[in-house]
Order: sequence, then C-alpha cells, then structure tokens
Amino acid sequence: MSWKDTPKVELHLHHEGAAPPAFIRQLAHEKKVDLSGVFNDDGSYAFRDFVHFLSVYEAATSVLKTPEDYARLTTAVLEECAANGVIYAESFISPDFCGGRDVEAWKEYLHAIQEAATKAEADHGIVLKGIVTCIRHFGGEWAKETALCAAETKGDFITGFGMGGDENQFTQGTFKWAYDCAREAGLQLTTHAGEWGGPESIRQALDDLKVERLGHGVQVIEDAALMQRVIDEGVTLEVCPGSNVVLGVYPSIDAHPIKRLRDAGVKVTVSTDDPPFFHTTMTREYEMLEQAFGWGQDDFTALNLVAAEAAFCDTATKTKIKKRLEAV
Ligand code: ADE
Ligand code: ZN
Repeated sequence: MSWKDTPKVELHLHHEGAAPPAFIRQLAHEKKVDLSGVFNDDGSYAFRDFVHFLSVYEAATSVLKTPEDYARLTTAVLEECAANGVIYAESFISPDFCGGRDVEAWKEYLHAIQEAATKAEADHGIVLKGIVTCIRHFGGEWAKETALCAAETKGDFITGFGMGGDENQFTQGTFKWAYDCAREAGLQLTTHAGEWGGPESIRQALDDLKVERLGHGVQVIEDAALMQRVIDEGVTLEVCPGSNVVLGVYPSIDAHPIKRLRDAGVKVTVSTDDPPFFHTTMTREYEMLEQAFGWGQDDFTALNLVAAEAAFCDTATKTKIKKRLEAV
C-alpha cells in the first residue's frame, strides 16, 4: 500500500539537506556559482562516503546566500514534506550557514524562514519548528557563537538546539558550554550520536550534554547496559533508516536495528535526515519498513505518537498533532 497520505511526524531533517538538487542547481545558475563535482550525470547529489557527503553538502549549501534564498528553500522543503503526509516537522537550521553566526544577520534569516513556514502552514497544514544546530567539525568555539544565536532567538519557532557534522571529530563534551547555554535559555536538546561514534559517543551525549533525544542513536544496540539506560531515561531516538543504509552504517534495511530497538522498548521515531541525498522521502521510509519488518498502520501510528510526545513544541501543538494522528 502507499503510505503517502498517512499523517507523519518528522523530527530529524536538515534544512539544507532537504534541498532538491534542481533547486540548488537553479540557485547556482542564478548566482553563477560553479558546482562541478556536486552532482552525478543524472542530476542527483554525488558522494562516496560520509565525510565526502559532508563536503558535498557544504558545497551545495554555498549557493544559499541570502534570507530570501532560505525562504525559497523553506517553501520547497515544506511542500515536499506535506506531499508525503508530514503534518509536523522539525528541521536543523545552522547560523553557520545563515549569517555566519552573527546574531543580527541570523535574525534576518530566521524571519524569512519563519514567514515561509507560516505560509506553508496556511497552504498545506504543516507545522514547522526549528532546531538551531552547530556543526561538530567546526569546533567548540563556533558552537558557542551558535548557541548564543539560539539563546537570543528561542521562542515559538526556535524550540531546540542540536549538533550535526562529523561525529568522529572532537568529543561531545567539547560542546558542553554551548549546550549549557542553550539549556539555560530554555531550549530542548538533541545531538547526532551513535550514527558513527558508537556507544561511547551516546554515553558522552547523555552525560556531558544531557540531551533528551539522540540524532540516530542506533549504535546503542551494541551496548546492552547503555540501551537499558536509554530505555529507563526515556531518551527518544531520531532514527533515519534510509540514510543509514545509503551512508553504509548498515548494509541493508533488513540489517537495520530499528525493529530490534523498538522491540526492546527503546522509543524510536522515523525521519529522512537529508532526503534527496539519500533518494528517500517519508513515504519511501515507511514502504521500506513495511517491506523489511511487516509494519503496518498500527505500527506507524504508534511510532508517530512517540514522535509527537518527543517533539520540541508546546503541549497545545502536541495535542493537535496527536488528534490528527489518532483520526486515522
Ligand atoms: N548533516 C547532515 N546530515 C548529517 C548526518 N547524517 N550526520 C551528521 N551530520 C549531518
Ligand atoms: Zn542528521
């Protein structure tokens, strides 16, 4: 069956990573930016492995130069999300790419993104919240500036703080100051952990950054005691199965641990990460999960209710989302 119209909650989506390749090519054309090496002959994004993916991601992002570009991006991304049944999404947005971590410039980008999101909500009924995101391989000092941008703009739209980038660089603890700053500002916290860095990275994320959600987090399957801790503490995993398979964390969807994690009692949710990079959509993720594990409507409703509960938003918004999920 097609899962396209099933209402969905997506908690782990990189704003630039969701940019359709044609959108990036169009901006490159308008701005006369040379993006050779970024695309395959068939027009899709070209990368060999995770580290190369990050550099291609940053090259593609380099065409997004103004608040207006981010407004256009937001519209394109939310149209695609809504077309796949997503009713609520959280996206990672980086002051590193939006104004070079200057607070005033960041506010202008944010204003443009928020305006586009408000219009998308009116047009398609999709709600977006923003997670301000530092980039791990840019280091701890830049993360502090990013956290200050986050703290300054915490509100109805910016509700979370997170970290993406190369999990093999630095430790989670390098970013403790940034996370303390974001927490004190009232932001909810997540970080990429246990995508590449194994159980130790997850342990550091919980101990040093005190996050309530883990980006990916799937490698917790390798450590039974840590998995029990994740269950006991009610930590939610933002699992992106298609991303994990394309980047080679697991060889196939059948080998992916999402079912084993869920069966063990871990709170798992499903997201796309960077959908066009990984040739996926939320619909496609559900199709893959149905095929690999036999999951059906009841499973997806349950997963989405877990996601709604773990969403970085106010209670009224959660209640509204849950009602739409339960109406299926
Ligand atoms: N940035 C965009 N996608 C990412 C991923 N899968 N892991 C870490 N950082 C990212
Ligand atoms: Zn991610």
